[in-house]
Amino acid sequence: MSDVPAPTLFTWEFAADPYPAYAWLREHAPVHRTTLPSGVEAWLVTRYPDARQALADARLSKNPVHHSESAHAKGKVGIPGERSADLMTHLLNIDPPDHTRLRRLVSKAFTPRRVAEFAPRVAELTNRLIDSFAPRGEADLIHEFAFPLPIYAICDMLGVPAEDQDDFRDWAGMMIRHGGGPRGGVARSVKKMRAYLLDLIHRKRSDLGDDLISGLIRASDHGEHLTENEAAAMAFILLFAGFETTVNLIGNGTYALLRNPEQRRLLQESVGRGEAGLLATAVEELLRYDGPVELATWRFATEPLSIGGQLIGTGDPVLVVLAAADRDPERFDGPDILDLARRDNPHLGFGHGIHYCLGAPLARLEGQTALGALLTRLPDLQLAVEPGELRWRGGLIMRGLRTLPVSFTAVQ
Ligand code: HEM
Repeated sequence: MSDVPAPTLFTWEFAADPYPAYAWLREHAPVHRTTLPSGVEAWLVTRYPDARQALADARLSKNPVHHSESAHAKGKVGIPGERSADLMTHLLNIDPPDHTRLRRLVSKAFTPRRVAEFAPRVAELTNRLIDSFAPRGEADLIHEFAFPLPIYAICDMLGVPAEDQDDFRDWAGMMIRHGGGPRGGVARSVKKMRAYLLDLIHRKRSDLGDDLISGLIRASDHGEHLTENEAAAMAFILLFAGFETTVNLIGNGTYALLRNPEQRRLLQESVGRGEAGLLATAVEELLRYDGPVELATWRFATEPLSIGGQLIGTGDPVLVVLAAADRDPERFDGPDILDLARRDNPHLGFGHGIHYCLGAPLARLEGQTALGALLTRLPDLQLAVEPGELRWRGGLIMRGLRTLPVSFTAVQ
C-alpha cells in the first residue's frame, strides 16, 4: 500500500462522486480490505481484469452460508427482510448445479423474443408517463418517470392485473426508500409481495395465459418444473433485480446526458432522424460511465484464492466494484469521458459469467425507449437545480439519484 492516505469510502461526498476514490483504489490498492457501513469486512476489487476474473470464478460462491462471519453478520448480506419471507432460493444467492437448473428454466420463459414482443407496450407506458407531466413544464424524473416505468413494465410482463399494480408500486417504493435501512417496513413489504405472488401463481395454474408467470409455471426441463415457491422466488427476483436498476439507468443516464450537452445534442439529432444505432451504443456507454449497479452482489471465497496477487481467505466476502472496473484506463480509452458512440465497450454493468444479467434485453429496451422518448418529446429538457443540490442514495450495491428535478417547455 502507498503512503498516500486511502480515501474515505461510503460518505455522502463519496456517494455523490465515488470515481476519484475508485481511481485511487485501482492505482494503490486494487484489491482492498475495508469495513462496510454495516460493519461487515469485505474485499473491494476495482481493476477491470481482476473484476472480470472474479465475476467468473467458481471458487467465489453466491451462497451466504459460505460467509465466515457470525449468523448475525450473515443477516446483513442479503436483501433486507428477505430471510423472513423465505425468498432465498433465487438466482443471485445460489451456485451450480441449482443455479444452472433454475436459470435454464427461467430462461425458457423470459426469452429475448418475449422481451422484443413487449416493445410496443413499453413505448405505450413511456408515453403515458410523459403525458402525465408534459403539460406542467417541470417534473421530478425519478418519481414521475424512472420509478414507475420499470415497475409497471415488469408487472405487465409477469401478468399482474392492472388493478393490483399500484400495490406493487407501493411495496417496491418501500424497498427502494429503505434499501439498507429499517428492516420492519421492508420485511412487511416483501412478505406481502410473496403472499400476493404465491396466490397469483396458484390462481394462474388453473388458467394459464401468455404472461411470464404462466411461462414460469409451464417451463419444464427434462420433465422438471418449478415448484410454486420457486416460481414465486423467481418472480420476486425478476422484480427486485429489474426494478431499482432500471430506475437508476434512466435516472443516471438522463443526468449524464444533461451534464454533457454536446453528446446529448448528437443523440437528440440521431434519434430525431429515426436512427437506432447511436441510441443503442449510448445506453451501453451510460451503463459503463455511471451504471446502476456500483458493486456486484456478494461473493464468498469457498477456498483460499488469489485475486490480483492478493490472497483471499476462505469465507471472506468479495465485492466486485463494477463502477471502478468500468473506468479502468488500462481497458477503456478516456474512461472518464462520456462517448455515446464508443464501440469497444465490453463494460461490466450487467456483470459477467454465469450470473450475467438475465434481464439485460428488457433493461436495454426500457433504457432506449425511455431516453429516446424524453429527448424527442421534451427537446429542451434541462436540470432545474444545480448539480451540487442533487442527493444520491447511499446504498451499497446500487448507485442512483433520489430526485431529478427538470424543467422544459410545457407540451399540451
Ligand atoms: C443479474 C445489472 C436490469 C434480472 C444482474 C447482475 C448485474 C445486473 C450486474 C449480476 C450481479 C452479480 O453477478 O452479482 C442490471 C442492470 C440493469 C438490470 C444494470 C438495468 C439497467 C434487470 C432487469 C431484470 C434483471 C430488468 C429482470 C426483469 C436479473 C436477474 C439476475 C441479474 C434475474 C440474476 C442472474 C443470475 O444470477 O443468474 N443484473 N440488471 N435485471 N439481473 Fe439484472
